[in-house]
Amino acid sequence: MEVKVAKTAGFCFGVKRAVEKAYEVAEQTAGGVYTYGPIIHNEEVVSDLEKKGVRVLESEEELRNLQDGTVIIRSHGVPKYIYDLLKEKQIACVDVTCPFVLKIHRIVAEESLKGRHIVIVGNADHPEVVGIKGWCEGPCTVIKTKEEAKKFLEEGHEKVCIVSQTTFNYNNFQEIVEILGEKRYDRLVINTICNATQDRQSEAEEIAKQVDTMIVVGGRHSSNTQKLYEICKSECENTYYIQTLADLDSDSFRSVQCVGITAGASTPNKIIEEVSKHVRIKF
Ligand code: F3S
Repeated sequence: MEVKVAKTAGFCFGVKRAVEKAYEVAEQTAGGVYTYGPIIHNEEVVSDLEKKGVRVLESEEELRNLQDGTVIIRSHGVPKYIYDLLKEKQIACVDVTCPFVLKIHRIVAEESLKGRHIVIVGNADHPEVVGIKGWCEGPCTVIKTKEEAKKFLEEGHEKVCIVSQTTFNYNNFQEIVEILGEKRYDRLVINTICNATQDRQSEAEEIAKQVDTMIVVGGRHSSNTQKLYEICKSECENTYYIQTLADLDSDSFRSVQCVGITAGASTPNKIIEEVSKHVRIKF
């Protein structure tokens, strides 16, 4: 059986940097170390860090109740008021927000100060989007669907700045931008989709076209893995979404000639290697 493993599978630059820093802080810091939300959407990594003393703060309330220690801000970033809160409470902060996300924070802060209504194309519940919203100095709307874009257009805004969640699907972003361009008004579009995501998505699509079965590895709550799965599924009917090797159903691989493997941004290399090794040996 032939196995094609995507070169872009796994940790992106921002996640790699965040995870390495979390391990480093755990090793070098006395006192409590916390991450505000899981450092990445990967249960294995989170529980390994926990063994090294890094606890996850699950809510803002937990953060507010914290008396001391060090808080790691993960790669998704946070709203501005969280930095203010930590400063006020005199809690040490290690900021590992991905530089690409920090750039979006800067853009929305500057453009909203210039009087532009900020449109974030993305998922309103995603922590990255919540963080970006928290840097807007004026009105902000999150748009995820074409219907929402049409509704926004009807509202007749005059000065708009459009950015995107870094992990948003490029084609969907373009469709929404096109709808938002159907009327003439002062519109600034900044494509802030991260290249890591674009590259991973295009490679996954390419591989999914060539194989009989596709395996997408990633955490259950990872939105970029879910998107990878959707892309692969539309090209290859036999696409499977697994978190670890344990989820792989061997029966699905009988009489398969060629398998493709890709993985979301928060999947450690170790898991990708385990899966590809298993598929190569077993089938
Ligand atoms: Fe950063 Fe792109 Fe990863 S924005 S966290 S390098 S997906």
